[in-house]
Amino acid sequence: MRAYQARYIVLPPAPVGGSIIAELNRRYDPGELARLEASRPALEHTLITPRAGAAIKSAAGTDLITYAEALLPRMRAEPENPFTAFLRTTPGREHHYRDFLLQSSADLLAEASASAFGVIGAFGAPQSALFRILIDEFGYGAHDRKHSVLYQAVMRDFGLCDDYGAYAPLFDTVSLDLHNTIHWLFQNPRNVFLQAGFLLFAETAYQRSTADHFRYLSEFHPDADARYFSEHAHIDLHHTRMVIDDVCTPFVTSYGAAAGAEIVAGAELTRATFARAGAHLLAVSQAFASAVLAGEAWYNAPQVPAPGAQGVTPTGAAQLSDPTTQIQVGGLGIVSAAAFAEFPSGAYGVLAGEGPAS
Ligand SMILES: [Fe+2]
Ligand SMILES: [Fe+2]
Repeated sequence: MRAYQARYIVLPPAPVGGSIIAELNRRYDPGELARLEASRPALEHTLITPRAGAAIKSAAGTDLITYAEALLPRMRAEPENPFTAFLRTTPGREHHYRDFLLQSSADLLAEASASAFGVIGAFGAPQSALFRILIDEFGYGAHDRKHSVLYQAVMRDFGLCDDYGAYAPLFDTVSLDLHNTIHWLFQNPRNVFLQAGFLLFAETAYQRSTADHFRYLSEFHPDADARYFSEHAHIDLHHTRMVIDDVCTPFVTSYGAAAGAEIVAGAELTRATFARAGAHLLAVSQAFASAVLAGEAWYNAPQVPAPGAQGVTPTGAAQLSDPTTQIQVGGLGIVSAAAFAEFPSGAYGVLAGEGPAS
């Protein structure tokens, strides 16, 4: 995550205690970044390229245009996404939604920064179409319309800090995997057609999922700022069309069926990555709700973790000498080490020292 994030600008929202120049020198220290960069290829090779390879293999021979035109009707016909459907049945829904917002913030508080890497360069008319989509993501230059600013508003309404990266120690393994896969796609120019596939799937899926979220918020949290979701449910209709007509189709015209198959592979990789992240979010939510019912956990809005907060996985929790050790899990709350040891793999928490909120 740090190796990817080192390639874009993040400034603190307010003046820091010391010199801003010293802070920049610390955050973007060339020696530290070189060390992170050195470990990146091996991690990508182990964690991401096997899944990309599987998607490329499964997409071989698929006709892009047929695939793309079938995608939206297929998604519209699907039932409501399982996470918002689960929230409807859960009294602790506010806490589960807070966790969703927190886990998604690695990308959404800097929305479209990853895909911006796929716009620079020199590659013809599709580049200009991608730029038009990108400037929509950035509110067409109007700061309060920028998608990340809309996302900040909903985070604040759920009592969360809206500083980029504030909750990084609470991101779980699968949330990081989603973030890293997106950056792997866009920070490697070799992936240009896979990138188009990502956008094809993501813009299409977002039309549907943001409509579900907008409906859910209107029904259960009507005072929360839901513009992030209503904006996407609308504008991603256009973005899907633009990706198909102005990016994917010209790519295939210029570079042939091999480019088309790679675009399908990017869409399928994205489908699998989104599906894994969605299933994991739901599994952790359900595990936490069960632990609450069993008296092993309680809901608690998270503090921004202090520097040096000690992280723990379910496997690590099983090895702690005191099974009553308290662990903060994402935006959900506190669970005992004994119960956290039974959580799905990929869950992550930090050791907490406080008792139940009064
Ligand atoms: Fe967006
Ligand atoms: Fe979009």
